[in-house]
Amino acid sequence: MTFTAAKRYDFHDQAGDYAGLADELRGLLTGESDLVANAANMSALLFDALPDLNWAGFYFLKRGELVVGPFQGKPACVRIALGKGVCGTAAQERRTIVVPDVNAFPGHIACDAASQSEIVVPLIAGEKLLGVLDIDSPRLARFNEGDARGLERLVSIFLDSVGIEGVG
Ligand code: SME
Repeated sequence: MTFTAAKRYDFHDQAGDYAGLADELRGLLTGESDLVANAANMSALLFDALPDLNWAGFYFLKRGELVVGPFQGKPACVRIALGKGVCGTAAQERRTIVVPDVNAFPGHIACDAASQSEIVVPLIAGEKLLGVLDIDSPRLARFNEGDARGLERLVSIFLDSVGIEGVG
């Protein structure tokens, strides 16, 4: 297995930095297909590499409910029902949701009071919903459409690594 040391990005070149992050992620996950191991390393990479985050991690769909998986940040809500909060909404609607101000999102679940904005990318393999990648920031409007596309690409690399067909 090849490990690449995480490095910081300033995101002045968002597309270029996500491409660099995609290369790092591939290096980190290549040769390993364990779901928990790869989710843990991906959370650590994102938390270390992306500026202005206070939480980055996974929820996996288990018996019809989202259950927290590997993450970086403060302890989080363990179970989220489909359709609830940003995570449950992104999972139910099977689309990436960018929330510029979590206080303005009806039903937002506040796990860490520091969170001001959030992005949630569903993990979809073929027709199957596996869970979501959730990232929170203490800065308002931290995430935009460029982050959505960049993170969807990273999620696709993650799904490939665990032997599941990528998104799209
Ligand atoms: N804010 C999320 C809950 C998960 S925590 O942010 C880690 C939501 O509304 O779904």
